[in-house]
Amino acid sequence: MEGLAGVVAGSSAICSVGTGAGLLYRGYPIEELARRAEFEEVAHLLLVGHLPTEHELKDFKQTLQEHRELPLVVKEVLQALPISTHPMDVMKAGVVALGCARPEALDFANQEGCALQILGALPAMLIYWHHYHKHGKQIPLSSKQSMAHYLLERLREEEPLEVEVKAMDAMLTLYAEHEFNASTYANRITASTLSDLYSCVSTGIGTLKGRLHGGANELAIAFILRFDSVSQALQEVDALFAKKEKIMGFGHRIYKHADPRSAVGFELAKQLKHLGDPKLFEIALAIRDKVKQEKGLPDNIDFFGGLIYHYMRLERLYYTPFFVMSRAVGWMAHVFEQRAHNRIIRPTSTYTGAPKRPFLPLQDRS
Ligand code: COA
Repeated sequence: MEGLAGVVAGSSAICSVGTGAGLLYRGYPIEELARRAEFEEVAHLLLVGHLPTEHELKDFKQTLQEHRELPLVVKEVLQALPISTHPMDVMKAGVVALGCARPEALDFANQEGCALQILGALPAMLIYWHHYHKHGKQIPLSSKQSMAHYLLERLREEEPLEVEVKAMDAMLTLYAEHEFNASTYANRITASTLSDLYSCVSTGIGTLKGRLHGGANELAIAFILRFDSVSQALQEVDALFAKKEKIMGFGHRIYKHADPRSAVGFELAKQLKHLGDPKLFEIALAIRDKVKQEKGLPDNIDFFGGLIYHYMRLERLYYTPFFVMSRAVGWMAHVFEQRAHNRIIRPTSTYTGAPKRPFLPLQDRS
């Protein structure tokens, strides 16, 4: 089965996708979580297993905030990376360095602590690297704000609007978990060998980097930005259809009619459009409708997702690292689940190579 399409590769109690009940995180609909909960509540739900009480949330947030202070070795590694480094490689290097500084115990006794360490440190890694390389300064990392607020405020060095914090919060929630997608499955494979949590997460970052997975939102907004008018955009869509080329931000392995996250993304982009050029929203809408009408392909979360970040004036190459900061929660919840019922993941393949043959000595080969 190419691409393992339609293959049930295991069971999970974390998230349900494509069962007909919508996208649920531990039973809660994604739309409600994105509109009504803070990302940290969702992270607690996914990692710990239930929505936190007020007291639990306070402790959880405080621990994440404490982990924004990066160990010296992580800062040194981030400083040493060239300015040309892809921000996804920055995240990967940061996680690997963090794993060297604060390793996980061989018996995984500190796995929850390591998970909070990683989750708290991920935004700080990007913020630190960004300011060190782009502005030549070591920015203070401590803060008592939510993750959404912290990211916006510290990257842009200005107080974000409430509507922006809410949108960032919702985006972190929408991207937090999605069952056996490629990067989560990669995490589970690494976990199944009984490797450590930092190795699992860095495996996930490498898998998410590809443009068929996490990299799609930055390409989707790059596509939208190419056009000055709706008619120009629609002409280009026709040209791509004719060349049988893919349009980033459309299609999905599971969602053949609609991605439940897209409706929330659409609303957020609409709310934010007055912060930038509202024409881009109109162009996006026209592209969405044409692709749906003519190819039957629904937009996925990455289509309006890219536009949302663009309206918040965030650097395009940081969109996938934001995805990491959010999906790391899902990854780590899956690692814990895999560890709880582990058997090494090792499928088999159908052999299509040469039949058995005798070895050919070097001098006899032409
Ligand atoms: N633009 C145009 N056509 C697309 C398309 C897109 N974004 N996505 C799928 N199709 C077409 C394929 O060309 C294929 O057509 P064919 O049957 O005539 O060959 C058909 O739809 C099935 O697509 P396929 O790539 O086989 O689906 P998949 O389940 O293997 O892949 C994705 C799913 C997400 C990888 C794929 O839709 C894609 O590449 N999308 C663009 C990248 C993207 O937005 N990724 C983010 C996902 S959240």
